[in-house]
Amino acid sequence: MTDAVNRRTFLNQTAISGAAVGALAAATPALAAKSASDKVVVGVMGMSRGRSLATGFTQQSGCEVKYVCDVDPQRAGTAADAVEKAGGKAQAIGDFRKILDDPGVDALVCAAPNHWHAPATIMACAAGKHVYVEKPCSHNAREGELMVQAARKHNRAVQMGTQRRSSPGIVEGIEKVREGAIGRVYCARSRYSSARGETGRTMPAEIPAGLDYELWQGPAPRVPYATNRVHYKWHWFWHWGNGELGNNGVHYLDVCRWGMDVDYPIRVTSTGGRYVFNDDQQTPDTSTVALEFDDKKLITWDGLSCSRHNKNAFVTFFGDKGSLEIKSGGGYTQYDVKDKVVKDVKSNRGDAEHILNFLTAIRNDTPLALNAEIAEGHKSTLLCHLGNIAQRTGRALTCRRADGHIVGDEKAMELWSRDYEPGWEPVV
Ligand SMILES: NC(=O)c1ccc[n+]([C@@H]2O[C@H](COP(=O)([O-])OP(=O)(O)OC[C@H]3O[C@@H](n4cnc5c(N)ncnc54)[C@H](O)[C@@H]3O)[C@@H](O)[C@H]2O)c1
Repeated sequence: MTDAVNRRTFLNQTAISGAAVGALAAATPALAAKSASDKVVVGVMGMSRGRSLATGFTQQSGCEVKYVCDVDPQRAGTAADAVEKAGGKAQAIGDFRKILDDPGVDALVCAAPNHWHAPATIMACAAGKHVYVEKPCSHNAREGELMVQAARKHNRAVQMGTQRRSSPGIVEGIEKVREGAIGRVYCARSRYSSARGETGRTMPAEIPAGLDYELWQGPAPRVPYATNRVHYKWHWFWHWGNGELGNNGVHYLDVCRWGMDVDYPIRVTSTGGRYVFNDDQQTPDTSTVALEFDDKKLITWDGLSCSRHNKNAFVTFFGDKGSLEIKSGGGYTQYDVKDKVVKDVKSNRGDAEHILNFLTAIRNDTPLALNAEIAEGHKSTLLCHLGNIAQRTGRALTCRRADGHIVGDEKAMELWSRDYEPGWEPVV
Protein backbone atom coordinates (compact mmCIF):
# COMPACT_ATOMS: atom_id res chain seq x y z
CA MET A 1 0.00 0.00 0.00
CA THR A 2 1.24 3.50 -0.79
CA ASP A 3 1.44 6.23 1.81
CA ALA A 4 -1.49 7.91 0.08
CA VAL A 5 -3.68 4.82 0.31
CA ASN A 6 -2.63 4.21 3.93
CA ARG A 7 -3.52 7.74 4.80
CA ARG A 8 -6.80 7.69 2.94
CA THR A 9 -7.86 4.45 4.64
CA PHE A 10 -6.92 5.86 8.02
CA LEU A 11 -8.83 9.08 7.45
CA ASN A 12 -11.78 7.14 6.07
CA GLN A 13 -12.11 5.22 9.31
CA THR A 14 -12.13 8.39 11.34
CA ALA A 15 -14.85 11.00 11.03
CA ILE A 16 -13.23 14.43 11.14
CA SER A 17 -14.59 17.43 12.92
CA GLY A 18 -13.19 20.61 14.44
CA ALA A 19 -9.90 20.80 16.30
CA ALA A 20 -9.52 17.02 16.69
CA VAL A 21 -8.40 17.05 13.08
CA GLY A 22 -5.09 18.74 13.99
CA ALA A 23 -3.87 15.90 16.18
CA LEU A 24 -5.03 13.31 13.64
CA ALA A 25 -3.26 14.80 10.65
CA ALA A 26 -0.09 15.48 12.65
CA ALA A 27 0.19 11.75 13.25
CA THR A 28 -0.15 10.74 9.59
CA PRO A 29 2.44 10.67 6.80
CA ALA A 30 2.42 13.18 3.94
CA LEU A 31 0.44 12.42 0.79
CA ALA A 32 2.47 10.99 -2.05
CA ALA A 33 3.00 13.27 -5.05
CA LYS A 34 0.43 12.95 -7.83
CA SER A 35 1.63 12.52 -11.38
CA ALA A 36 0.96 15.34 -13.83
CA SER A 37 -1.87 13.34 -15.41
CA ASP A 38 -3.56 12.49 -12.09
CA LYS A 39 -7.12 13.54 -11.59
CA VAL A 40 -7.58 16.14 -8.87
CA VAL A 41 -10.85 15.92 -6.95
CA VAL A 42 -12.22 19.01 -5.22
CA GLY A 43 -15.19 20.07 -3.09
CA VAL A 44 -16.35 23.70 -3.24
CA MET A 45 -17.90 25.58 -0.30
CA GLY A 46 -20.07 28.73 -0.69
CA MET A 47 -22.13 28.85 -3.88
CA SER A 48 -22.14 32.41 -5.12
CA ARG A 49 -18.55 33.14 -6.05
CA GLY A 50 -18.07 29.41 -5.47
CA ARG A 51 -20.48 28.59 -8.28
CA SER A 52 -18.23 30.21 -10.87
CA LEU A 53 -15.20 28.57 -9.25
CA ALA A 54 -16.98 25.19 -9.40
CA THR A 55 -17.60 25.59 -13.14
CA GLY A 56 -14.04 26.91 -13.60
CA PHE A 57 -12.55 23.85 -11.86
CA THR A 58 -14.89 21.54 -13.83
CA GLN A 59 -13.63 23.02 -17.10
CA GLN A 60 -10.00 22.21 -16.24
CA SER A 61 -8.88 18.92 -17.72
CA GLY A 62 -8.24 16.19 -15.14
CA CYS A 63 -10.25 17.90 -12.44
CA GLU A 64 -13.48 16.65 -10.87
CA VAL A 65 -15.75 18.78 -8.71
CA LYS A 66 -17.27 16.08 -6.51
CA TYR A 67 -19.23 18.33 -4.12
CA VAL A 68 -20.84 21.74 -4.23
CA CYS A 69 -21.69 22.81 -0.71
CA ASP A 70 -23.90 25.59 0.61
CA VAL A 71 -25.89 26.07 3.81
CA ASP A 72 -28.59 27.48 1.53
CA PRO A 73 -29.88 24.35 -0.28
CA GLN A 74 -31.32 26.37 -3.14
CA ARG A 75 -27.85 27.74 -3.94
CA ALA A 76 -26.26 24.29 -3.66
CA GLY A 77 -28.87 22.93 -6.09
CA THR A 78 -28.39 25.59 -8.76
CA ALA A 79 -24.61 25.20 -8.47
CA ALA A 80 -24.91 21.45 -9.10
CA ASP A 81 -26.92 22.29 -12.25
CA ALA A 82 -24.21 24.76 -13.34
CA VAL A 83 -21.50 22.12 -12.88
CA GLU A 84 -23.54 19.68 -14.97
CA LYS A 85 -23.88 22.28 -17.74
CA ALA A 86 -20.10 22.71 -17.63
CA GLY A 87 -19.66 18.97 -18.23
CA GLY A 88 -19.29 17.63 -14.67
CA LYS A 89 -21.40 15.96 -12.00
CA ALA A 90 -21.34 17.24 -8.43
CA GLN A 91 -23.30 16.26 -5.36
CA ALA A 92 -25.10 19.16 -3.64
CA ILE A 93 -24.45 19.07 0.12
CA GLY A 94 -24.95 21.40 3.12
CA ASP A 95 -22.07 20.56 5.49
CA PHE A 96 -18.49 21.07 4.24
CA ARG A 97 -17.17 18.59 6.83
CA LYS A 98 -18.39 15.88 4.45
CA ILE A 99 -15.74 17.15 2.00
CA LEU A 100 -13.06 16.94 4.69
CA ASP A 101 -14.18 13.45 5.71
CA ASP A 102 -14.04 12.11 2.13
CA PRO A 103 -10.65 10.44 1.55
CA GLY A 104 -11.20 10.70 -2.22
CA VAL A 105 -11.10 14.51 -2.13
CA ASP A 106 -7.77 16.29 -2.68
CA ALA A 107 -8.74 19.92 -2.12
CA LEU A 108 -11.27 22.24 -0.56
CA VAL A 109 -12.22 25.41 -2.41
CA CYS A 110 -13.57 27.94 0.10
CA ALA A 111 -15.75 30.77 -1.17
CA ALA A 112 -17.90 31.11 1.94
CA PRO A 113 -18.03 34.51 3.72
CA ASN A 114 -14.79 35.90 5.17
CA HIS A 115 -15.35 34.72 8.77
CA TRP A 116 -15.12 31.16 7.41
CA HIS A 117 -11.90 31.45 5.41
CA ALA A 118 -9.27 30.75 8.06
CA PRO A 119 -11.19 28.23 10.21
CA ALA A 120 -12.18 26.16 7.14
CA THR A 121 -8.66 26.36 5.66
CA ILE A 122 -7.03 25.26 8.91
CA MET A 123 -9.46 22.36 9.34
CA ALA A 124 -8.94 21.33 5.71
CA CYS A 125 -5.12 21.38 5.96
CA ALA A 126 -5.33 19.25 9.09
CA ALA A 127 -7.56 16.80 7.21
CA GLY A 128 -4.86 16.51 4.51
CA LYS A 129 -6.61 18.68 1.91
CA HIS A 130 -5.04 21.38 -0.22
CA VAL A 131 -7.00 24.65 -0.19
CA TYR A 132 -7.98 27.33 -2.68
CA VAL A 133 -9.31 30.08 -0.41
CA GLU A 134 -11.00 33.21 -1.61
CA LYS A 135 -9.67 36.66 -0.83
CA PRO A 136 -9.29 38.19 1.69
CA CYS A 137 -7.69 35.03 3.08
CA SER A 138 -8.72 35.88 6.65
CA HIS A 139 -11.24 37.80 8.72
CA ASN A 140 -8.50 39.21 10.96
CA ALA A 141 -4.70 39.46 11.09
CA ARG A 142 -4.01 36.63 13.55
CA GLU A 143 -5.95 34.16 11.40
CA GLY A 144 -3.63 34.82 8.46
CA GLU A 145 -0.61 33.94 10.60
CA LEU A 146 -2.32 30.71 11.68
CA MET A 147 -3.12 29.82 8.08
CA VAL A 148 0.55 30.06 7.10
CA GLN A 149 1.43 27.85 10.08
CA ALA A 150 -1.23 25.29 9.09
CA ALA A 151 -0.05 25.15 5.48
CA ARG A 152 3.54 24.56 6.61
CA LYS A 153 2.71 22.07 9.35
CA HIS A 154 0.70 19.85 6.98
CA ASN A 155 2.70 20.63 3.83
CA ARG A 156 -0.41 21.63 1.87
CA ALA A 157 -0.79 23.91 -1.15
CA VAL A 158 -2.87 26.92 -0.04
CA GLN A 159 -3.66 29.44 -2.77
CA MET A 160 -5.50 32.74 -2.19
CA GLY A 161 -8.06 33.74 -4.84
CA THR A 162 -6.29 36.86 -6.11
CA GLN A 163 -6.46 35.65 -9.70
CA ARG A 164 -4.60 38.62 -11.21
CA ARG A 165 -1.40 37.03 -9.86
CA SER A 166 -1.86 34.51 -12.70
CA SER A 167 -2.92 36.92 -15.47
CA PRO A 168 -0.21 36.69 -18.19
CA GLY A 169 -0.44 40.42 -19.06
CA ILE A 170 -0.34 41.54 -15.43
CA VAL A 171 2.59 39.22 -14.66
CA GLU A 172 4.44 40.85 -17.59
CA GLY A 173 3.60 44.37 -16.38
CA ILE A 174 4.75 43.63 -12.83
CA GLU A 175 7.99 42.13 -14.17
CA LYS A 176 8.63 45.40 -16.03
CA VAL A 177 8.05 47.42 -12.87
CA ARG A 178 10.31 45.18 -10.81
CA GLU A 179 13.04 45.09 -13.47
CA GLY A 180 13.34 48.90 -13.47
CA ALA A 181 11.51 49.78 -16.74
CA ILE A 182 10.13 52.92 -15.05
CA GLY A 183 13.19 53.52 -12.86
CA ARG A 184 13.09 53.52 -9.07
CA VAL A 185 9.47 52.93 -8.11
CA TYR A 186 8.49 55.00 -5.09
CA CYS A 187 4.70 55.02 -5.21
CA ALA A 188 1.74 52.84 -6.21
CA ARG A 189 -1.72 54.41 -6.20
CA SER A 190 -4.91 52.43 -6.62
CA ARG A 191 -8.51 53.46 -7.00
CA TYR A 192 -11.78 51.53 -6.76
CA SER A 193 -15.20 52.84 -7.85
CA SER A 194 -18.60 51.21 -7.80
CA ALA A 195 -22.24 52.32 -7.67
CA ARG A 196 -23.50 50.51 -4.59
CA GLY A 197 -26.84 51.57 -3.15
CA GLU A 198 -28.10 51.87 0.40
CA THR A 199 -27.58 48.94 2.79
CA GLY A 200 -30.62 49.97 4.83
CA ARG A 201 -31.72 49.15 8.38
CA THR A 202 -31.12 45.82 10.07
CA MET A 203 -34.39 44.30 11.36
CA PRO A 204 -35.02 41.11 13.36
CA ALA A 205 -36.41 38.44 11.01
CA GLU A 206 -37.29 34.73 10.78
CA ILE A 207 -34.56 32.46 9.47
CA PRO A 208 -35.52 31.67 5.84
CA ALA A 209 -36.82 28.13 5.32
CA GLY A 210 -34.00 25.72 4.53
CA LEU A 211 -31.10 28.01 5.49
CA ASP A 212 -28.75 26.46 8.07
CA TYR A 213 -28.01 29.75 9.84
CA GLU A 214 -26.16 27.93 12.64
CA LEU A 215 -23.59 26.67 10.13
CA TRP A 216 -23.60 29.97 8.21
CA GLN A 217 -22.39 31.60 11.46
CA GLY A 218 -19.95 28.76 12.27
CA PRO A 219 -16.87 30.33 13.92
CA ALA A 220 -18.49 33.75 14.51
CA PRO A 221 -20.08 34.30 17.94
CA ARG A 222 -23.87 33.87 17.72
CA VAL A 223 -26.09 36.79 16.72
CA PRO A 224 -29.87 36.43 16.20
CA TYR A 225 -30.91 36.28 12.54
CA ALA A 226 -31.77 39.66 11.00
CA THR A 227 -32.19 41.26 7.59
CA ASN A 228 -29.22 42.92 5.87
CA ARG A 229 -26.65 40.12 6.25
CA VAL A 230 -27.47 36.91 4.40
CA HIS A 231 -26.53 36.93 1.58
CA TYR A 232 -23.72 39.29 0.57
CA LYS A 233 -24.46 42.27 2.86
CA TRP A 234 -22.39 40.69 5.68
CA HIS A 235 -19.42 42.34 3.85
CA TRP A 236 -20.50 45.65 5.47
CA PHE A 237 -20.47 44.45 9.11
CA TRP A 238 -17.23 43.88 11.02
CA HIS A 239 -18.52 40.71 12.74
CA TRP A 240 -18.28 38.80 9.44
CA GLY A 241 -16.80 41.09 6.79
CA ASN A 242 -13.96 43.50 6.07
CA GLY A 243 -15.74 46.27 4.15
CA GLU A 244 -14.82 47.37 0.63
CA LEU A 245 -11.13 47.31 1.51
CA GLY A 246 -11.27 43.56 2.24
CA ASN A 247 -13.82 42.91 -0.48
CA ASN A 248 -12.25 44.67 -3.49
CA GLY A 249 -9.32 46.62 -2.04
CA VAL A 250 -7.39 43.41 -1.38
CA HIS A 251 -7.03 42.81 -5.16
CA TYR A 252 -5.66 46.35 -5.56
CA LEU A 253 -3.29 46.30 -2.59
CA ASP A 254 -2.03 42.86 -3.59
CA VAL A 255 -0.98 44.15 -7.03
CA CYS A 256 0.57 47.29 -5.47
CA ARG A 257 2.59 45.25 -2.94
CA TRP A 258 3.69 42.76 -5.61
CA GLY A 259 4.98 45.47 -7.96
CA MET A 260 6.63 47.50 -5.20
CA ASP A 261 8.32 44.35 -3.86
CA VAL A 262 7.48 45.13 -0.23
CA ASP A 263 6.18 43.03 2.65
CA TYR A 264 5.08 44.86 5.81
CA PRO A 265 4.37 48.60 6.18
CA ILE A 266 5.86 50.80 8.89
CA ARG A 267 3.00 53.33 9.08
CA VAL A 268 -0.70 53.09 8.14
CA THR A 269 -3.49 55.70 8.06
CA SER A 270 -7.09 55.65 6.88
CA THR A 271 -9.53 58.52 6.46
CA GLY A 272 -13.19 58.54 5.40
CA GLY A 273 -16.30 56.68 6.58
CA ARG A 274 -19.89 55.89 5.66
CA TYR A 275 -20.38 59.20 3.84
CA VAL A 276 -22.98 58.68 1.12
CA PHE A 277 -25.82 56.92 2.96
CA ASN A 278 -27.03 57.17 6.54
CA ASP A 279 -27.91 53.58 7.42
CA ASP A 280 -26.71 50.59 9.48
CA GLN A 281 -23.65 49.78 7.36
CA GLN A 282 -20.59 49.80 9.64
CA THR A 283 -17.83 49.87 7.05
CA PRO A 284 -16.82 52.95 4.99
CA ASP A 285 -18.11 53.66 1.49
CA THR A 286 -15.50 56.37 1.01
CA SER A 287 -11.95 56.07 2.30
CA THR A 288 -8.31 56.67 1.54
CA VAL A 289 -5.78 54.27 3.00
CA ALA A 290 -2.07 55.13 2.95
CA LEU A 291 0.67 52.61 3.73
CA GLU A 292 4.29 53.69 4.05
CA PHE A 293 7.15 51.23 3.68
CA ASP A 294 10.89 51.34 4.30
CA ASP A 295 13.10 52.96 1.64
CA LYS A 296 10.64 55.77 0.83
CA LYS A 297 7.86 53.71 -0.73
CA LEU A 298 4.16 54.56 -0.53
CA ILE A 299 1.00 52.63 -1.44
CA THR A 300 -2.46 54.21 -1.43
CA TRP A 301 -5.99 52.91 -1.96
CA ASP A 302 -8.89 55.23 -2.75
CA GLY A 303 -12.17 53.45 -2.22
CA LEU A 304 -15.35 54.97 -3.62
CA SER A 305 -18.15 52.43 -3.29
CA CYS A 306 -20.88 54.85 -4.39
CA SER A 307 -19.50 56.59 -7.49
CA ARG A 308 -19.25 55.22 -11.00
CA HIS A 309 -16.74 57.88 -12.14
CA ASN A 310 -13.49 56.44 -13.45
CA LYS A 311 -14.68 52.93 -12.75
CA ASN A 312 -11.91 51.39 -14.83
CA ALA A 313 -9.15 52.83 -12.67
CA PHE A 314 -7.03 50.14 -11.00
CA VAL A 315 -3.32 50.41 -10.06
CA THR A 316 -0.65 52.88 -11.24
CA PHE A 317 3.05 52.61 -10.40
CA PHE A 318 5.16 55.78 -10.36
CA GLY A 319 8.92 55.64 -10.94
CA ASP A 320 11.58 58.28 -11.52
CA LYS A 321 11.75 57.27 -15.24
CA GLY A 322 8.05 56.84 -16.04
CA SER A 323 4.87 55.19 -14.88
CA LEU A 324 2.92 52.02 -15.55
CA GLU A 325 -0.80 51.35 -15.24
CA ILE A 326 -2.09 47.86 -14.58
CA LYS A 327 -5.56 47.15 -16.04
CA SER A 328 -8.16 45.55 -13.79
CA GLY A 329 -9.21 43.14 -16.56
CA GLY A 330 -5.58 42.24 -17.39
CA GLY A 331 -2.67 43.89 -19.22
CA TYR A 332 -0.88 47.21 -18.73
CA THR A 333 0.12 50.53 -20.28
CA GLN A 334 3.66 51.81 -19.85
CA TYR A 335 4.46 55.57 -20.05
CA ASP A 336 7.85 57.24 -20.37
CA VAL A 337 9.08 60.15 -18.27
CA LYS A 338 7.22 62.60 -20.58
CA ASP A 339 4.01 60.60 -20.09
CA LYS A 340 4.06 59.22 -23.64
CA VAL A 341 2.72 55.69 -24.13
CA VAL A 342 5.61 53.27 -24.67
CA LYS A 343 3.72 50.00 -24.65
CA ASP A 344 0.13 48.82 -24.30
CA VAL A 345 -0.68 45.17 -23.58
CA LYS A 346 -4.12 43.55 -23.28
CA SER A 347 -4.71 40.30 -21.44
CA ASN A 348 -7.30 38.52 -19.30
CA ARG A 349 -7.94 38.55 -15.53
CA GLY A 350 -6.23 35.21 -14.92
CA ASP A 351 -9.13 33.19 -13.47
CA ALA A 352 -8.49 29.93 -15.37
CA GLU A 353 -4.69 30.30 -15.10
CA HIS A 354 -4.97 30.75 -11.32
CA ILE A 355 -6.95 27.52 -10.95
CA LEU A 356 -4.50 25.67 -13.21
CA ASN A 357 -1.56 26.98 -11.15
CA PHE A 358 -3.21 25.49 -8.03
CA LEU A 359 -3.89 22.12 -9.69
CA THR A 360 -0.32 21.97 -11.02
CA ALA A 361 1.14 22.53 -7.54
CA ILE A 362 -0.97 19.62 -6.26
CA ARG A 363 -0.01 17.32 -9.14
CA ASN A 364 3.69 18.12 -8.84
CA ASP A 365 3.67 18.06 -5.03
CA THR A 366 5.18 21.56 -5.01
CA PRO A 367 2.93 23.30 -2.45
CA LEU A 368 5.01 26.48 -2.46
CA ALA A 369 4.97 26.88 -6.26
CA LEU A 370 1.79 28.95 -6.17
CA ASN A 371 1.26 32.40 -7.65
CA ALA A 372 -0.68 33.53 -4.57
CA GLU A 373 0.80 31.24 -1.91
CA ILE A 374 -0.78 31.81 1.48
CA ALA A 375 2.28 33.59 2.97
CA GLU A 376 1.97 36.23 0.21
CA GLY A 377 -1.82 36.17 0.48
CA HIS A 378 -1.54 36.88 4.20
CA LYS A 379 0.81 39.84 3.67
CA SER A 380 -1.57 41.47 1.17
CA THR A 381 -4.65 40.74 3.29
CA LEU A 382 -2.84 42.19 6.31
CA LEU A 383 -2.63 45.56 4.50
CA CYS A 384 -6.45 45.56 4.47
CA HIS A 385 -6.71 44.57 8.12
CA LEU A 386 -4.29 47.35 9.10
CA GLY A 387 -6.19 49.88 6.98
CA ASN A 388 -9.43 48.82 8.66
CA ILE A 389 -7.88 49.01 12.14
CA ALA A 390 -6.61 52.54 11.37
CA GLN A 391 -10.11 53.45 10.17
CA ARG A 392 -11.85 51.98 13.22
CA THR A 393 -9.51 53.51 15.79
CA GLY A 394 -9.12 56.79 13.91
CA ARG A 395 -5.38 56.64 14.56
CA ALA A 396 -2.17 56.37 12.55
CA LEU A 397 -0.61 52.96 13.21
CA THR A 398 3.10 52.29 13.61
CA CYS A 399 3.98 48.74 12.55
CA ARG A 400 6.86 46.35 13.12
CA ARG A 401 8.99 45.83 10.00
CA ALA A 402 9.36 42.09 10.63
CA ASP A 403 5.69 41.07 10.73
CA GLY A 404 3.39 44.10 10.55
CA HIS A 405 2.34 43.88 14.21
CA ILE A 406 1.11 47.23 15.58
CA VAL A 407 3.46 48.75 18.17
CA GLY A 408 2.63 51.14 21.02
CA ASP A 409 -1.16 50.91 20.64
CA GLU A 410 -2.81 48.18 22.73
CA LYS A 411 -6.31 49.31 21.76
CA ALA A 412 -5.51 48.90 18.06
CA MET A 413 -3.89 45.50 18.73
CA GLU A 414 -7.20 44.33 20.25
CA LEU A 415 -8.53 44.30 16.68
CA TRP A 416 -5.68 42.01 15.55
CA SER A 417 -7.84 38.96 16.36
CA ARG A 418 -11.44 38.12 17.28
CA ASP A 419 -13.55 36.07 19.69
CA TYR A 420 -14.92 32.75 18.43
CA GLU A 421 -18.04 30.75 19.00
CA PRO A 422 -16.94 28.12 21.57
CA GLY A 423 -15.81 24.94 19.82
CA TRP A 424 -14.86 26.73 16.60
CA GLU A 425 -11.57 28.37 17.68
CA PRO A 426 -8.95 27.75 14.97
CA VAL A 427 -6.16 25.51 16.27
CA VAL A 428 -2.94 24.67 14.43
N1 LIG B 1 -11.76 36.47 -6.36
C1 LIG B 1 -12.81 37.15 -6.73
O1 LIG B 1 -12.79 37.84 -7.75
C2 LIG B 1 -14.06 37.10 -5.89
C3 LIG B 1 -15.28 37.55 -6.45
C4 LIG B 1 -16.42 37.51 -5.63
C5 LIG B 1 -16.34 37.04 -4.33
N2 LIG B 1 -15.15 36.64 -3.82
C6 LIG B 1 -15.07 36.16 -2.42
O2 LIG B 1 -15.91 35.04 -2.25
C7 LIG B 1 -16.43 35.01 -0.92
C8 LIG B 1 -17.95 34.89 -0.98
O3 LIG B 1 -18.47 36.11 -1.45
P1 LIG B 1 -19.87 36.23 -2.14
O4 LIG B 1 -19.97 37.54 -2.73
O5 LIG B 1 -20.05 35.03 -3.01
O6 LIG B 1 -20.83 36.14 -0.83
P2 LIG B 1 -22.30 35.60 -0.71
O7 LIG B 1 -22.79 35.92 0.64
O8 LIG B 1 -23.13 36.04 -1.87
O9 LIG B 1 -22.11 34.03 -0.87
C9 LIG B 1 -21.53 33.25 0.14
C10 LIG B 1 -22.18 31.88 0.09
O10 LIG B 1 -21.55 31.06 1.09
C11 LIG B 1 -22.56 30.31 1.72
N3 LIG B 1 -22.09 29.81 3.02
C12 LIG B 1 -22.00 30.46 4.22
N4 LIG B 1 -21.53 29.64 5.17
C13 LIG B 1 -21.32 28.44 4.56
C14 LIG B 1 -20.85 27.19 5.02
N5 LIG B 1 -20.51 26.96 6.29
N6 LIG B 1 -20.77 26.16 4.13
C15 LIG B 1 -21.14 26.34 2.84
N7 LIG B 1 -21.60 27.51 2.35
C16 LIG B 1 -21.67 28.55 3.20
C17 LIG B 1 -23.75 31.25 1.81
O11 LIG B 1 -24.96 30.58 2.06
C18 LIG B 1 -23.68 31.92 0.44
O12 LIG B 1 -24.41 31.21 -0.53
C19 LIG B 1 -15.97 36.29 -0.25
O13 LIG B 1 -14.90 35.99 0.59
C20 LIG B 1 -15.55 37.17 -1.40
O14 LIG B 1 -14.54 38.07 -1.01
C21 LIG B 1 -14.03 36.65 -4.59
